[in-house]
Amino acid sequence: MNTNNSVVVTDQLESTLTSSISAFPDDKLFLVTDQNSAKFCLPLLCEIPNIEKFKTIVIPSGEENKLLSSVEKIWLFLSQNGADRKSLVVNLGGGMVTDLGSFAASTFKRGLPFINIPTTLLSQVDASVGGKTGFNFNGLKNEIGVINQPLQVIIDTRFLKTLDHENIISGYAEMIKHGLIHSQDHLAELRKFDLDNPDYRELQGIIAHSVLIKNYFVEKDPHERNIRKALNFGHTVGHAFESLSLRNSQPLLHGHAVAFGMIAELYLSRLNSGFADGIMHHLSQWLISIYGKYQIAASDYEALYELMGHDKKNEGKRINFTLIRSVGEVEINRDCSKEQVFEALDYFRELNHD
Ligand SMILES: NC(=O)c1ccc[n+]([C@@H]2O[C@H](COP(=O)([O-])OP(=O)(O)OC[C@H]3O[C@@H](n4cnc5c(N)ncnc54)[C@H](O)[C@@H]3O)[C@@H](O)[C@H]2O)c1
Ligand SMILES: [Zn+2]
Repeated sequence: MNTNNSVVVTDQLESTLTSSISAFPDDKLFLVTDQNSAKFCLPLLCEIPNIEKFKTIVIPSGEENKLLSSVEKIWLFLSQNGADRKSLVVNLGGGMVTDLGSFAASTFKRGLPFINIPTTLLSQVDASVGGKTGFNFNGLKNEIGVINQPLQVIIDTRFLKTLDHENIISGYAEMIKHGLIHSQDHLAELRKFDLDNPDYRELQGIIAHSVLIKNYFVEKDPHERNIRKALNFGHTVGHAFESLSLRNSQPLLHGHAVAFGMIAELYLSRLNSGFADGIMHHLSQWLISIYGKYQIAASDYEALYELMGHDKKNEGKRINFTLIRSVGEVEINRDCSKEQVFEALDYFRELNHD
C-alpha cells in the first residue's frame, strides 16, 4: 500500500527494495544499522539479490549512542568506502538509526539519497514521516538536525515479531494519539486490536492508517508553524514525565510517557475545551490498562511544571498545549493555568494510586 509518494507499507519488502536499489551501481550501496537491528532485522533482507554487495556499518544500539561521534563513524565509513553522489544509503533500524543515518546521509557531500526501513513500531508510525533527522547534543534531545526527505520509506510489520512488548506498546501510544487528534475510526480499530496476541497482517493496515494521519498534518504544515502542533498532543506533560523519570533513574520509554501525558492532557481538554467527562475517564482507564500505573507524588508537581515550561515547543513564557474538544477535533495553542495543570496532575495521581 502506498500511503504517499515515498512511504510504502508492504509485505513485499524484498521486491520493493530490489527495485528501488536497481537504479544505483552495485559498488555504491551502503547500509547503516545498529547491533540489535543487525541481529534481528538483517536476516529478513537475505533474499535480496544484491544484499552481499552492500557495504555495512553496525553502530551500537541505544539512545545513548545517538551522538555526533556515531555520525562521525558513519561519515568516515562512507568516506573510506568511496561514497559519492551516485551512492545510496539504506538505514535499517528503529528511530535512533533512521534519525542518525538520515542525518549522516543528508550532510555527507551535501547530501546522498537514502531509504529508511524502520523496524520498530514507533519508527514505523512516527519517525517514518516528516523528514526530521538528527542527533542528541550537549545533553539535549535532537538538538542538531535537518529536515530532509528520504527517497523512500519501506514499512514491513514482519520486523515487529522480534520486538519486545514494551517497545510495541511504546509505538502504539503514538497511534492512539493519531486516533485521538484525527479519527474516531482509527481509535476504534486500535481499541479492537489484540496487543497481547498481535496479528501482524491486521497491524499492517492499522499502521498504514496511522502513517496517513501523521502525513496529513505534516503535509499541511511541514515546518510546524500551526496545525502540525496537533501531533504534540500528550507531549507537553509527556516530555515532563520522561525527563522526571530520567532524573529518578527509572527512565520511561517515550511512548509510555506520552500515554501518561495524554491522560493529563485529556483532563486539561475537559477543563478547557469541553471534552466529555465520561469519555475522558473511559480513555484514561484504557490507557492505564495498557501502560500500567505510574506513580507521581504531589511533591513532584513543581518540578514537572518547570519541565513543561522548558518544552521546546513553547513560545516565550506561555506553556503551549495541544488539546482536543472531542475525538478527532484538535485545538492548538491553548494556554492552561498553573492551577489547571496541578489539577490535571491530581487527576493523574489519583488514577494511578494503588
Ligand atoms: N524523526 C522523527 O520524526 C522521530 C519521531 C519519533 C521518534 N524519533 C526518534 O526515534 C528514537 C526512538 O525510536 P525507537 O523507539 O525505534 O528506538 P530505537 O531505535 O532505540 O529502538 C529500540 C530498540 O529496539 C531495537 N530494535 C530495533 N528494531 C528491532 C526489531 N525489529 N526487533 C528487536 N529489536 C529491535 C533497537 O536496536 C533498540 O535497541 C528517538 O531517538 C527519537 O528521537 C524520531
Ligand atoms: Zn512522540
